[in-house]
Amino acid sequence: MSIQQTAIRHHLHPSARYTGNFSFQVSIDGVLMISYRDYPVFIFLEIPINLSSMKRYLLVTGALCCFHSGIAQTVLPYKNPRLPVEQRIKDLLSRMTLDEKVGQLNQMNGGAFTGPALNNAGQQEKMQLVKQGKAGSMLNVIGVADTRTIQQAAMQSRLGIPLLFAYDVIHGYKTIFPIPLAEACSWDTRQIERNAAVAAKESAAAGLHWTFAPMCDISNDPRWGRVMEGAGEDPFYGSAVSAARVRGLQGKLDDDEHIMATVKHFAAYGAVEAGKEYNQVDVSRVQLWNKYLPPYQAAVDAGAATVMNAFNVFEGVPASGNQYLVNNILRGQWGFKGIVVSDWASFGEMVTHGYAADGKDAAYKALIAGSDVDMESKVTITHLAQLVKEKKITIQQLDQVVSRILYYKFKLGLFDNPFKFCNEAREQANIFTPEHRVIARTAARASVVLLKNNQQALPLAASDKVLLIGAFAESKDDLFDFWIAQGKSNDAVSVYEGFKSKFSNLQYAKGYNTDLTPNETLVNEAVRMAADADVLVVNLGISGKMAGEDRSLAHPEIPEVQIQLLKALKNTGKKIIVLVSSGRPLVLTPVEPLADAILQCWILGTEQGNAVADVVSGDYNPSGKTVMTFPYATGQIPVYYNHFNTGRPTQTDGMGNWYARYRDIPNEPLYPFGYGLSYTAFTYSQLQLSSTTLSRKDKLTVTVTVTNSGNRNGEEVVQLYIRDHAASVVRPVKELKGFEKIQLRAGESKTISFTLTARELSFYNAEGKRVLEPGKFSVFVGGNSRDTQQVDVELR
Ligand code: NOJ
Repeated sequence: MSIQQTAIRHHLHPSARYTGNFSFQVSIDGVLMISYRDYPVFIFLEIPINLSSMKRYLLVTGALCCFHSGIAQTVLPYKNPRLPVEQRIKDLLSRMTLDEKVGQLNQMNGGAFTGPALNNAGQQEKMQLVKQGKAGSMLNVIGVADTRTIQQAAMQSRLGIPLLFAYDVIHGYKTIFPIPLAEACSWDTRQIERNAAVAAKESAAAGLHWTFAPMCDISNDPRWGRVMEGAGEDPFYGSAVSAARVRGLQGKLDDDEHIMATVKHFAAYGAVEAGKEYNQVDVSRVQLWNKYLPPYQAAVDAGAATVMNAFNVFEGVPASGNQYLVNNILRGQWGFKGIVVSDWASFGEMVTHGYAADGKDAAYKALIAGSDVDMESKVTITHLAQLVKEKKITIQQLDQVVSRILYYKFKLGLFDNPFKFCNEAREQANIFTPEHRVIARTAARASVVLLKNNQQALPLAASDKVLLIGAFAESKDDLFDFWIAQGKSNDAVSVYEGFKSKFSNLQYAKGYNTDLTPNETLVNEAVRMAADADVLVVNLGISGKMAGEDRSLAHPEIPEVQIQLLKALKNTGKKIIVLVSSGRPLVLTPVEPLADAILQCWILGTEQGNAVADVVSGDYNPSGKTVMTFPYATGQIPVYYNHFNTGRPTQTDGMGNWYARYRDIPNEPLYPFGYGLSYTAFTYSQLQLSSTTLSRKDKLTVTVTVTNSGNRNGEEVVQLYIRDHAASVVRPVKELKGFEKIQLRAGESKTISFTLTARELSFYNAEGKRVLEPGKFSVFVGGNSRDTQQVDVELR
């Protein structure tokens, strides 16, 4: 439609808008306002309201024609959507002052920018910095109203460079999904990708462009509160999950329903000593390459736009200033072209670490290591311009960093429409929808892991008289973890509510206080009520509030008051089902003999109660397999399946002296990696290799037949592991190299095949080069990392 036609159609309708590059609006009092791609550029002229229609038409049309011919000549190259992005970046850089360039590296913490909050001195000051072009991005500004307000301020800066808005959307924005650790227990990467896509869609509808997820840190220490945020202890599986999460969050980054992902925390943050948050890390290069780096690399290869520095040191150098990690590995060997953002204040913390003398030194060390954006430590905004003036950092180096940030602003389309993600109608329509809740429920029930099921204690019948016991089954406050974005625990379904919809004969007893202080009255009440029940379902564990950042625990164990309750309940002789709520594997050794069945329920998000009830009632047959080993005792931590053999291994306990073992506990964990039961049973047979010898270029096909030998339909995660028996550096006793989740009807068999190539049989040396060495390999297949069948192959 031409501008003239638009004028004819709309000039009598004050609120009408034209949706091309230019739009106009004639207000009630006759002011013609012209906008370019949604933001106002001119208040043009006043049209007397008493003019005739024809005269109004001529005036508006004339004004639009003048404006159109004028603007055609004045659109600056960086604002011209028809030009290639590289050209637009170059043009913009040529117009930016040193301070404006430095401003792009500054990420400020936000807060609210509407209502009374806007009048706070602190918020006003941030607004001023934005208007001066002294911020490139903000975190924690949420919602269309606030992001629009502050983006409008950015549009008032000299060059009108839009801001990026970032937020920790870790497992959902408002529809909360299972914690990432639980979600990973589904072994369903398509579902994981779908969950991430929902989180992105809700975030994008709330004005956001960027989330600080996925966390790709491999960890085997349940003392660390952040294990909840990752995909467990295995690098091969962690890689598959990390890539799926990036794909789901980002899509192609070319619409308004996806957002930028952040691969964090680069690198090896999961190896914090003693599971203590922010603690030091000391791992070898061989371990770095083989165990910690693969998931980050998989996420980078999946196209992640950004990577976050870790808080820890690697080889004594903080990750934010670590040349080897950022410049050599990430940017050099992996060819990462995106943005590296610090963790909160981690540039400045290089001073506290004892690696930088002061803030200026820290800014310098971060920049030359290859890191870009300074989240909240302010050392770059304070010192970088001076470093450039002193020629310690060249303007070319700075331009390169700024280009990376500008690139993503162009890529997201923000230069063409800074308010692309600020759409109130979408915000209303796309967040916390019934469809998203259905996806969250599907994800949640697939995350539950059945750890024990003696004599088919589960599932329960709808007619069973069920006594549900435990404050956590009812408390919504304790349901959610630290990373819940805009999730509201009151919107979530508690276990009690979920059970009410399945079991008509349901009673509830509190059993213990959520603050875990001993209370005999509650125990006695539960025991008394047990007399009337067929089955006791006891929800134990620790509060969701104990999962996440800064939630390290020296005792990742079931609290003593809950063990006392369980013992008292055991004396009733009733069937006992234990539901464990926690954001990490807890030591369940004292619980095991007291329970007929144990379900690890983790923290499942908005649909927690419905998902648990689906599993307990048998409406869903559990299919989750744990991605972290469950320790036998706290002193056994770290305990993980892919350990080295040592020179003195012992397979069974009590074999005599001088073995690698404990004197007071077994070597074996309580439940191994990959373990999880079903209400049906699976048997493995006919494990075969396409050849018993192979050359470096051959592909090895591994086949196995899996049979559902029970009487229910079910799903099984078929897992393939290898062992390289002798190598130039020792290799783990087992390493996952393949998995497939299959559905089998009762009685059905399927033959599954895996392919092993040089890639799976090789490993990294200390220089980060893949090496393939001849010799004997074992191939193991089974339903968990312990119970496997084995065949051997010789690589020549
Ligand atoms: C610190 C955390 O380590 C990181 O994961 C998070 O993204 C930032 N804070 C921002 O909130």
